[in-house]
Amino acid sequence: MENGKWKIDNGKLTMENYIPNTFRMKVRARVIEEYHSVGELRSLLEKYRGERILAIGAGSNLLFQGDFDGVILHSAMRRARALDENGDEVLIEAQAGLVMDELIAQLCDMGLWGLENLSHIPGEVGASAVQNVGAYGVEAKDAIVRVHTMRVSDGQERIFENAECRYGYRDSIFKNELKGQYIVTSVVYRLWKTPHPQLDYGHLRAVTGGTPTPNEVRQAVMQIRRQKLPEVSEIGSAGSFFKNPIVPHEVYEAIAGQYNQVPHFEQDGGVKIPAAWLIEQCGWKGKRVGGAQVYEKQPLVIVNADNATPEDVKNLAQQVCDSVREKFGIHISPEVNYI
Ligand code: EPU
Repeated sequence: MENGKWKIDNGKLTMENYIPNTFRMKVRARVIEEYHSVGELRSLLEKYRGERILAIGAGSNLLFQGDFDGVILHSAMRRARALDENGDEVLIEAQAGLVMDELIAQLCDMGLWGLENLSHIPGEVGASAVQNVGAYGVEAKDAIVRVHTMRVSDGQERIFENAECRYGYRDSIFKNELKGQYIVTSVVYRLWKTPHPQLDYGHLRAVTGGTPTPNEVRQAVMQIRRQKLPEVSEIGSAGSFFKNPIVPHEVYEAIAGQYNQVPHFEQDGGVKIPAAWLIEQCGWKGKRVGGAQVYEKQPLVIVNADNATPEDVKNLAQQVCDSVREKFGIHISPEVNYI
């Protein structure tokens, strides 16, 4: 491990080799490289062949368990362009390093529909296509047409059509069968020119009224998020730490027999019970292990309240998971990727 050296990066003072991550874990990599073109990425893969390689975005969904003995690659390619228009549809290609919310802000300003419900989600375009980020009834996969990638082993470019990405709830082929094998270089989205508001989730319709613009939906989403979720610029977190479990109907019925008004949603042939509710019932709101804390306003989120170590976060997450299993017999699994 090299000694850290201060440097200016994008106008910010950073310590060399510290890995950017929204949890604000102080972890370092042996090497961190940024690339500015697909050709440069290929050269870096050639240069570091045989080493442990991890491509990251903003590190908004990662929990590093310690220093990373390998090479972190990050895209500095941040352009977006319109590819094609066909009637009501517009195809937009965005490069992997573009901040997702900057893209969405631009699309909303252009009056284009499709991604406005994902406003203010931290992270970059490439990672959001791997993670299939979602919020307020919309997932990235709903707008993704295809994903451009490069194979880590030999620098071959490959395009994955939406169906080949095997998208599921916060899931894709890039997190499973092909984990670590392909690096996303850009994503093609389909947007709409005519109104396609998706307002069925929670209070969105009440906040926006009947016929909003994409920007009005964006503002409403940001308002709801600010009330519930910690700002990663203010307090370290990786958003939701756990996924919402989908349980068989019998399991839900048994819980509903014991508790008043269990929140639940029919999904994929089962019943989704919000993990936030399960965690709250176990008394975890605001509780801490070391510097890690279950967020008071939304217990699905674990925050770095006070110089938390990866161990603090892991221990807290494990204890939360154990108590939900003991009380309800339900396993909640992390949404965050442990590295
Ligand atoms: N709830 C509680 N107690 C709380 C908060 C929530 O019981 O303190 C229950 C309520 O019944 C509420 C329900 O949980 O109706 C759902 O809460 P919320 O609408 O905040 O959504 P979520 O299911 O907890 C998911 C995503 C979020 C996304 C929101 C909105 C996952 C893992 N999380 O959270 O995504 O913003 O829906 O769509 O699916 C993320 O992935 O990082 C993320 C923040």
